[in-house]
Amino acid sequence: MNKKPGYVFVWPISTRLIHWMMAFSFTAAFATSFYEHLLHEHVALGFIFMIIIVYRIIWGIIGPRYATFNTFKLKPSELKHYFVEKIENRWRKIPAGHNPASSWYTVWAIFVGSIIAVSGLLLYGIQEAKGIFRFLNDGYTHYIYLLEWVHRYGSYLFFAWVVIHITGVLIEQFWHRTEMVFAMVTGYKKTEGEDTEVKPLLSFFAYMMLLLAIGAYFFITSSNYNFLTLQKYTNIDYKQEHPLFYEKCGDCHKIYPPYLLPEKSWQRVMGGLGNHFGEEITEANITRSQRASILAFLRENAAEHSRCEAAVKVMDSLGDLRPKAITKTPYWRETHKDIPRSVFQEENIKDRSNCIACHKDFDKGNLDDMNIIFHD
Ligand code: HEC
Ligand code: HEC
Repeated sequence: MNKKPGYVFVWPISTRLIHWMMAFSFTAAFATSFYEHLLHEHVALGFIFMIIIVYRIIWGIIGPRYATFNTFKLKPSELKHYFVEKIENRWRKIPAGHNPASSWYTVWAIFVGSIIAVSGLLLYGIQEAKGIFRFLNDGYTHYIYLLEWVHRYGSYLFFAWVVIHITGVLIEQFWHRTEMVFAMVTGYKKTEGEDTEVKPLLSFFAYMMLLLAIGAYFFITSSNYNFLTLQKYTNIDYKQEHPLFYEKCGDCHKIYPPYLLPEKSWQRVMGGLGNHFGEEITEANITRSQRASILAFLRENAAEHSRCEAAVKVMDSLGDLRPKAITKTPYWRETHKDIPRSVFQEENIKDRSNCIACHKDFDKGNLDDMNIIFHD
């Protein structure tokens, strides 16, 4: 006996929560991806998304009636028939479970969603040197552009998919009048069939997965230093590493971390101290042997020898260029092109070379996205 005459209980709360958590986590992750400083929120939402996908896959195997993959209608002929009937018969009957279009939709969403989640996790490890895959930062930085491409276009594809899905649901609602919009809210579909039921053990599993997803979100956003967020590169104490460099090159401005320019650039900087951006630095200020020592340190730690994101990207952007300033590198220009000129002229910034005004702990070599200070 069905609980509600004329309706079938198709989507229990556990299935509906999968749907809405996936919708929410994707939308929010998509939105936060446009802001570097929201990286942790983005990653945390990505974890919700990923855990829900795993949950959905397991649900597709052991889940309740209508949710399992073996009830999916994936034959091309069924899909074709679905669309033909949709056009020809406005008042056609709808199935209680997934129709051919939504079966395909779900399989695709899981597939593309998995690719987005995995590429994101790898990117977080390889590019940002953070999280459980941070060890991959050592040897795989040449994959960041490919991974970024996959992650980005995967999410655009998913987004387009969502738009098609919502359009389909609205057509069902307003043209076919199947009350489809309410199905994922109340769980009931206006059709024929038997109500679904969820066994207590399955419900328990469902709630555990939801708890895990929400727990992961708070775990990630709560700290920079747990195993899911820890970064390979920590603050560098340059004062300790090379006191002379710290003292002499941190006199007029905060020191610039050596990994931001290649060896050849540092040679040019150190070879041209007589006219250093309009300043004259004489041998009375920094002696010949001190210069040699500083240059050796700069070269040893130059961009060529670092795998951190900024070093890799500075090098990739340079080609044959070996400028004397970081602000002259194409990578720096690209990452700061959206910042209006007026911002750089503000009283507490004054100059685009005043990196520390916007990057907390810059003089400790830390360019973490989480450390960006915004002025607007
Ligand atoms: C006498 C003051 C003075 C000293 C000492 C000094 N600098 Fe500079 N440096 C400047 C000025 C002025 C600029 C121009 C940018 C600015 O206004 O901060 C600059 C800019 C730079 C830049 C380019 C920043 C950019 O825009 O990307 C680098 C790199 C740099 N200095 C390296 C060094 C190194 C290495 C040393 C130590 C050998 C050093 N500086 C010592 C005054 C100084
Ligand atoms: C007016 C503030 C401001 C100043 C000054 C500034 N930056 Fe930035 N920087 C930003 C902002 C904002 C972003 C993030 C841009 C974005 O959203 O992609 C950024 C991004 C970056 C990134 C990329 C980080 C990443 O992971 O994507 C690097 C590297 C960087 N800055 C280095 C520097 C250096 C080196 C200097 C000094 C020569 C400097 N910045 C000066 C505001 C500033």
